[in-house]
Amino acid sequence: MAQLDLRGISKSFGDTAVLRDIDLSIADGEFLTLVGPSGCGKSTLIRIIAGLEPQTAGSIAVDGAPIDHLRPHERRVAMVFQSYALYPHMTVFQNLALPLTMARLTMAERLPLLRLLSPRRRRIMAGIGQEVGAVAEQLQIDRLLDRRPAQLSGGQRQRVALGRAMVRHPAVFLMDEPLSNLDAKLRVHMRSELADLHARLRATFVYVTHDQVEAMTMSDRVAMMHGGRIIQLGTPAQLYDRPANLTVAQFIGSPTINLIKGRIGRDDAIEIPGGRIGLATGLPPGAEVTVGLRPEAVVPAPLVPAFQDPVRLPARLHRRENLGPEQILHFDLMGTEKAGLTCRVMGSETVVADEPVDLLFEASACHVFDSAGERVDLPAPVTSSPPPVRPVAPLAGGPGA
Ligand SMILES: Nc1ncnc2c1ncn2[C@@H]1O[C@H](COP(=O)(O)OP(=O)(O)OP(=O)(O)O)[C@@H](O)[C@H]1O
Ligand SMILES: [Mg+2]
Repeated sequence: MAQLDLRGISKSFGDTAVLRDIDLSIADGEFLTLVGPSGCGKSTLIRIIAGLEPQTAGSIAVDGAPIDHLRPHERRVAMVFQSYALYPHMTVFQNLALPLTMARLTMAERLPLLRLLSPRRRRIMAGIGQEVGAVAEQLQIDRLLDRRPAQLSGGQRQRVALGRAMVRHPAVFLMDEPLSNLDAKLRVHMRSELADLHARLRATFVYVTHDQVEAMTMSDRVAMMHGGRIIQLGTPAQLYDRPANLTVAQFIGSPTINLIKGRIGRDDAIEIPGGRIGLATGLPPGAEVTVGLRPEAVVPAPLVPAFQDPVRLPARLHRRENLGPEQILHFDLMGTEKAGLTCRVMGSETVVADEPVDLLFEASACHVFDSAGERVDLPAPVTSSPPPVRPVAPLAGGPGA
């Protein structure tokens, strides 16, 4: 069990700065995920924690004690790689036992001839056999111990790689995209297995992925990285509900958040193509903003939302993706060039393609980002000048019907 503290971690390869002044504290037993686009520095950071790569500046401590001077195997951390990194000529048992035999047997006891003669070795190996058996049982690979990696499926290999980390009882598990080589269905299954494993072991997990769904579904907290920096740290809900900037807003969530270019009008409200949003941003008139709207916050008018005073934008359905329980509807906004909005709606409600329809959303559902892409914290909706309501077909049973 361990708390991990990173202070001012920077890393350059030659002139190229890859990590810039990373501060991050990971609580004992926490599942923290580093997420971000390819090349943002996730693997470099986790390799620095593992001791596989020296940092250019900064310090790492486990439970308050610096570990910068320690070699990888001395750090109480264990790394699981995307490639599994299993030894192909060894059986599953030998792969699992290797970290323990390396730690507990002398060089001589590992030699072919001497090892047969040493009673101490036999005793140690019996203990290792029991520990490996217990871990293999937990991971349900106990029937595979005599096989070699080539005789295993991808998911089974992944479990062996996990097991090899588990036998060391590390304080911190470091995992670099451990599921990326698995097919989609197995990935979903292994996601819940990893979450269960974390709950059982209560160890600290640092998990790297570029898959926002993995980050959102497994983690206690997510650190989103971009350009060698952590640009937001929070719970999955915080990143989804209050993205700190446009980069996070666009990276987290599927389908991607809708973005509409707007400008602050003279009466404080945000003017967007085809309408206006009654929100006081505190920004000066004329300031350019980007309005973000999650697809589930936008509802086509034939479906009746319980919105008090919605913003309405006329649109036409352009494409429909039927996902069974829900549909993703892609609309073109009318009167604007190439601007569209994506809605996520439950059920199989029909919106007729090519017929004009109003898209409704509440001003309070809008995320507003300034011209630098940073989130604008909104004081309160503008109530004194409600947005003009366009004449549309009545909403059956809804407010304003
Ligand atoms: N040994 C190295 N020498 C020079 N540059 C490197 C080295 N290792 C990594 N880099 C660079 O550092 C940056 C970050 O790499 P890193 O592997 O940490 O990214 P990542 O976030 O893990 O990306 P991915 O999602 O593709 O795995 C990249 O631009 C990469 O080219
Ligand atoms: Mg990587």
